[in-house]
Amino acid sequence: MLEVRDVGKTYREGGREVHAVRGVSLRVEPGEMVVLLGRSGSGKSTLLHLLGGLDRPSSGSVLFEGRDLASLHDDALTRLRRDRIGHVFQFFNLLPTLTAAENVALPILLGGTSDRVATARARAALDEVGLADRADHFPEEMSGGEQQRTAIARALAVRPSLLLADEPTGNLDTDTGREVLGLLRGLTADGTRSIVMVTHDEQAALVGDRRIRLKDGRIEREER
Ligand SMILES: Nc1ncnc2c1ncn2[C@@H]1O[C@H](COP(=O)(O)OP(=O)(O)OP(=O)(O)O)[C@@H](O)[C@H]1O
Ligand SMILES: [Mg+2]
Repeated sequence: MLEVRDVGKTYREGGREVHAVRGVSLRVEPGEMVVLLGRSGSGKSTLLHLLGGLDRPSSGSVLFEGRDLASLHDDALTRLRRDRIGHVFQFFNLLPTLTAAENVALPILLGGTSDRVATARARAALDEVGLADRADHFPEEMSGGEQQRTAIARALAVRPSLLLADEPTGNLDTDTGREVLGLLRGLTADGTRSIVMVTHDEQAALVGDRRIRLKDGRIEREER
């Protein structure tokens, strides 16, 4: 479903070049959960951005569901990012003035879906993450784990085939983190969704089918 071929990303800062990602190739199959591991600055987030089309590579190609992202115009890429790929962040990024259900519905509403359908899909997504009974709560009325599950529901509500998660447990205590990892793991169970998760937590990384270790922007090692 996702194939990365010899991808590189170079940032230019003043006169200096930073090779954040160099010559990375990998495949992600449907239903697979792949974990990217590595020290701070090893290029994990940069690679995740390239996978999700949030950033364009300096070299190499990213094929998503058979399409080379580089061949897509900006609006087609925006649509693909919005409709096929879900993002989960370390700091949940929920809007404080909206309820859980409203936060979850927002991206689908922005995509042009009717109010009624968006609300129904938001409720279904909250149900899938076990938060049906928190739908009308505001973020500040929820625990960190509940907020992250709401953010996962928001990512799911667009019905993505790929979920990208950057340190999704980085802001949670160990037990809550484990719950969120279990939830993410379960989301791939029917084989229609894939997940790429970034972490620097060795314990958290064990949840994946595969671990890819990055060092200085390159794949250092891969473990099953
Ligand atoms: N927009 C940017 N401009 C210039 N350099 C950047 C930019 N984004 C990242 N870098 C550099 O690229 C390298 C990889 O950064 P990246 O954020 O991908 O690392 P990371 O593995 O996600 O680290 P962390 O665990 O701290 O989040 C670092 O040296 C970083 O300073
Ligand atoms: Mg990062």
